[in-house]
Formats: sequence, structure tokens, C-alpha cells
Amino acid sequence: MKTKKQEIIRLNANENIYGCSRSVLKAIKRNIKDIYLYPAMPVRLEEKLAEKFGVEPKNIVVGAGSVRLIDGIIQTFVEHDEEIIIFERSFVAYEQLSAAHRRKHVFAKLTDFICDVDNILPLVTKKTKVIFIANPNNPTGTIITHARLEHLLEVVSNDILIVVDEAYCEYVTDKSFPDSFSLQKKYPNLIILRTFSKIHGLAGLRIGYGVMKEELAGVLKKSRIPFFFNSLSEDAALAALADEKFILLCAKKNEREREFLYEKIKQAGLNIIPSQGNFLYIHFNNEEEKEKIFKRFAEKGLLICNLKTFGQDKSLRIGIGNRKINKELYSYLSIH
Ligand SMILES: Cc1ncc(COP(=O)(O)O)c(C=O)c1O
Repeated sequence: MKTKKQEIIRLNANENIYGCSRSVLKAIKRNIKDIYLYPAMPVRLEEKLAEKFGVEPKNIVVGAGSVRLIDGIIQTFVEHDEEIIIFERSFVAYEQLSAAHRRKHVFAKLTDFICDVDNILPLVTKKTKVIFIANPNNPTGTIITHARLEHLLEVVSNDILIVVDEAYCEYVTDKSFPDSFSLQKKYPNLIILRTFSKIHGLAGLRIGYGVMKEELAGVLKKSRIPFFFNSLSEDAALAALADEKFILLCAKKNEREREFLYEKIKQAGLNIIPSQGNFLYIHFNNEEEKEKIFKRFAEKGLLICNLKTFGQDKSLRIGIGNRKINKELYSYLSIH
């Protein structure tokens, strides 16, 4: 007998549950006939981003996803006898790419699931070259405030590169979130990474960018592989940037649903961490409880992130859905 195919809802990779702007789809359709041509360098995108952030195009480096920029930073700026500092329970690519390039990384602890810059300071040595900070942090969703980031920039030597990865910044509502562009003017060792994969909804196209001082950007640009960028991406990214209404709408809906789901999960008696991203982090008392909920969700076609894959045995990360999905989510949350 033919059974109805279960729809899988992806809440495991922090993608935009609302998709992407319609103008992005139009831009892709317009350009699809030209995919037999090699792409041009993304000069128009660099110019647009520079205009948006009040910097020069020479300060912008576009890459095939911000992971490609993370990769480039590690490969290009860190020597084999130097070290990278990463928070534990942070974006796994920092660790994976450090290992892939055989660069040493050390872990700073979190305090109550928060990336506390004071936990970085004892790890800083003469060998430290790069400090990666996901802000908001993935998977915990917590932020480092402007004042705390400034403190870190103030106390560490200016030959250490501090990379703030702001992949989820458009979702942030906490007013103490850093204005990293103003900090960068004062501290040129600050590198800012952003992406089109999250609120812009272009994860499959692979577009990210970094903003940094000219000297660093020049070196990173030289390290890119030829034709690093696909020919559908530039116009898609430009269309995404232009549709501010879509971005604001997604941010607004996310804020509302984040509060709703957070409260419901809290009411269910689970240890949920307040988040500034488009995802929520739940920490369980034991692995058994966590597995029970993970399996229950999987059976219902709700794909969430079991952080066991990343060595966090007692934690789950759940992407925030729309109201219909969120209602379904919390109805399966009881641990009994
Ligand atoms: C903190 C953080 N940075 C970067 C990325 C990846 O971005 P991109 O798709 O631009 O490579 C992710 C993806 O989950 C992330 O969580």
C-alpha cells in the first residue's frame, strides 16, 4: 500500500525557515542561461557591501561562504608554530579547519553557556595568532556585548587577529550587541565575518564576506582559488541586500517565535538558554533524556541538531520554526 510520504522539516542547520526573497529567485532565473560562462570577480557586490558598511571595497573579501573565509584566515595568517583560540561549544568549523590545516587550537571555557572573554585571556601566549568568536554563538545563541569585546581588543596585543563571526547578527535584538564596525576603526586587528546563508536565505549558493583592514584583505584575496565564486551568486546577493523589507520581516517573525518557543520550552521544565539567534539550545540533565526527545522529534519528521555529533552529549539545538512548526515542536517536548 502506498503510504503518505512524511514531510521532513529541517531545523538542524540554522537556515532561514522563511526561505529567501522573491527578488533573489528572479535574479537567479535571469542569470541561469549564462551558467556556461565563467563568473566575473564579485566587484559589484564588494562595492555594495562597502557602501552599506561605510568602508572601501578594498576592505571587503567575498568568499564561497564564510567558512571559506575562516579557512583562508587559518591557512594564510597562522604559521605552523602559532596557535588559535576558540571557545568550546562554538561553531565547529573553527576547530575542523584548524585541524585540517594542522594548526594548533586551544579551547576557552564557557561560563554558564556564555562566551566570557575573561576565559580567553589566560590562554593568550606569544604563539597566539587568531581568536575566533561566533557572536551570537552557535550553538548556545548567547552574545558577547560591545563592552566585553572592546575589553578583549583593549587588552590583547594588536598583532593578534580577533575574528568576530556575525553570521546571525540580523536576528539580534539585545541592544548591547557590539557595533563591530565602530570597534574596527579603533582596533584594526578586528576582522568581521558575515554571511548570506542565514537571514538572507542563500545557504545553498555559498556567499559570505569579511570586512578587515586593507593589508589583510589584500593577502586573503590573493589566497583565493581562481573562479571561487559561482556566477548565480553575485546578482542573488545584491537582490538579497536590496530587499530590506524581507530581512526585517524575517527578523521580526524570528523574534516573536523565539520568545514563544523559549517560554514554552521553559514551561516544559527544560534547561533552555536565552538566544539571540534563529535557534535555541537545550541542555539536559543526562544523555538519555536528550536522546528520547531527539528520537521523538525525528519520528515526527522534525530534524533538529543532536550536538552529540560535536561532542556535546547532553545538548540539542533546535532551529526556530514558524508558529505552526513551533506549536508542533513543543507538543513533543515533555521528557516523561
Ligand atoms: C557561526 C557561524 N558562522 C558561519 C557559518 C557558516 O556560514 P556560511 O554558510 O557562510 O559558510 C555558520 C553556519 O552554521 C555559523 O553557525
